[in-house]
Amino acid sequence: MNIIIKNSAEEASAAVAEILLRQVETKPDSVLGLPTGATPLGVYARLRQEFSKGRGRYKDVTTFNLDEYLGLSSEHPSSYAFYMRETLFRHADFKSERTHIPDGLATDAEAEAERYESLISTHGGIDLMVLGLGRNAHIGFNEPGSPHTSRTRRVALASSTLDANARYFQPGSSQPTHAITMGIGTILESRAIVVLATGREKADAIAASVNGPVTDAVPGSALNRHADATIVLDRQAAQALGAVQLLELGV
Ligand code: PGA
Repeated sequence: MNIIIKNSAEEASAAVAEILLRQVETKPDSVLGLPTGATPLGVYARLRQEFSKGRGRYKDVTTFNLDEYLGLSSEHPSSYAFYMRETLFRHADFKSERTHIPDGLATDAEAEAERYESLISTHGGIDLMVLGLGRNAHIGFNEPGSPHTSRTRRVALASSTLDANARYFQPGSSQPTHAITMGIGTILESRAIVVLATGREKADAIAASVNGPVTDAVPGSALNRHADATIVLDRQAAQALGAVQLLELGV
C-alpha cells in the first residue's frame, strides 16, 4: 500500500484530483469508480475548476458509482445520483449514458445489483477506483463484517453510518436504512485504487485499515490485498498511524 500524507485536506484533495486527471489524460476512455460523501467534495471542486480552465476531458469516460440508497429516486436531493450530477457530471462533458449508479428505486434490489455487477464486467472492469473511508472503516457501504469477497448487493447500513449521514437528510424526512453497494471483491478487482481520508475522525479507521490484521471486521483492511492501492491522507487522518510508521514514510 502506498501512503501519501499532505499537510491539509485541500492538498490531499488536489493530489487525488491530479491522479484522476492523469488517468483520463493517459486513457481518455477510462472506466472510473467514484465515491460520494463529504470527503470527495474537494476533489470534485478541483476537477470542475480544471475543466473550466480546459483540463480534463470526460466524453469517452465511463463511471460507476460505488453505491446508492434504496428508496430514493435519482431526483431526490439526498440521492447519490443527484449528488453526482450536481457536484460533478453537469459541470463537465460527461455523457449521461456513460455515468452509472445503482437504481435506488429498483423493485428487485438483488436483480439490480447483478445487473450493475455485469455492467462493470461488460465495460472491462474499473481502471481507477476512488474511495472514501467511513469512520467505521467501511468502503462503499460495505460495513464491518462484509466479506472481502463480497459482490455488488443490497446491504443494511450500520447505525454509526446512519448517524454519520443523518446530516444529509432534512429533519423529518425519512433516511434510508438500506443501499446497493459494490462489493469489496468487486472493488478489489479494479486495476488501481485510491483512497482519500481527511480529518481526525478518520484516523482510527485509517490506522486499523493500514496496520491490519486483514479481517472482515475492518473493511478498509481489504486494501492490503490489492497490488496497486494508494491512500492519500491529511495530517489529521494520519494521526493514529504511529511515529515509527510516519518515520518510515519520511513524514
Ligand atoms: P464521508 O463518508 O466522506 O461523508 O465522511 C466517507 C464514506 O462513508 O465512505
